[in-house]
Amino acid sequence: MRYGMTDTVEIFEVGPRDGLQNEAREIPVAEKIALVDKLSEAGFKHIEVTSFVSAKRVPQMADAARVMAGIQKVDGVAYAALTPNMQGYEAAILAQVDEVAIFASASEGFSQKNINCSISESFERFAPILKAARHADIPVRGYVSCVTDCPYEGAVAPDAVAKVAADLFAAGCYEVSLGDTLGHGTPDSVARMLLAVLKEVPAHRLAGHFHNTNGHALENIDASLALGLRVFDASIGGLGGCPFAPGSAGNVATEAVQEHVTALGYETGLCSEILAQAAEMAEKMRG
Ligand code: HMG
Ligand code: MG
Repeated sequence: MRYGMTDTVEIFEVGPRDGLQNEAREIPVAEKIALVDKLSEAGFKHIEVTSFVSAKRVPQMADAARVMAGIQKVDGVAYAALTPNMQGYEAAILAQVDEVAIFASASEGFSQKNINCSISESFERFAPILKAARHADIPVRGYVSCVTDCPYEGAVAPDAVAKVAADLFAAGCYEVSLGDTLGHGTPDSVARMLLAVLKEVPAHRLAGHFHNTNGHALENIDASLALGLRVFDASIGGLGGCPFAPGSAGNVATEAVQEHVTALGYETGLCSEILAQAAEMAEKMRG
């Protein structure tokens, strides 16, 4: 089992993707490569580098292949990218990503705004990705967005989240990351959602992905730790947000999660000094 040790927390770095996708300034490829290379020194097992999505929809990720081509891969780090459909998957494989992520929503409104299709249509697009990835031994991670609140539909029912998480897990995702896209979740709403999801997917196959709009992300991590989750997505320097969730802030900052879980006695395997240097680089990249 991947996360057998109860005293270990994995921080899954998503800053170069979830962080930078929302920056207004056109960030030079070399700056993105330098950030990923710095993060590669920190001890992460996973770094989400970029997205293979429509450049018209997310211009900041148009350089995905160039970023992948420029980074110095380090042994032991899996370099991941978002792939919404086969077009994205094929480009990601050509760019030599180590793993891909498919991303669904628990609410129809966000699914339409984000990926221009219904939840069930999104699973039709994911099916060939899962099949091709299984043949190529490429691990697939699954995201569920809007796990507590949706920018277009308000509160989201825990059972709706559980259904999408169960479908991603059954389809072959090795891990399902539960996204509070808007950052409006609270320890209560997160716990209610998790209790529903845990009936479908075991805790060691789940990750928490908390945007920090209302400043509750660390408490939401605590609520998730109490229910057995040990993997949390975070963005260096707290970069970012989602262009299709107006008003959403960045993911919880990696260095804050590192400090928080370390103080609670968990081991992350990350070097705080390198994280501080990377956070400084991220800060300079902000528009
Ligand atoms: P669509 O419009 O339904 O697709 O897009 P289409 O097949 O009709 O194609 C339309 C155009 O897009 C065509 O180009 C395609 O070639 C192109 P045109 O002929 O008009 O020039 N296209 C692509 N180009 C590059 N890569 C591709 C690709 N697919 C089609 N893979 C699509 C569907 C999903 C691609 C589009 O709606 C899109 O790119 N949306 C953006 C999704 C996105 O990146 N959202 C942000 C990330 S998700 C997130 O932040 C949440 C998360 O962090 C968790 C959380 O916080 O909740 C993960
Ligand atoms: Mg996100």
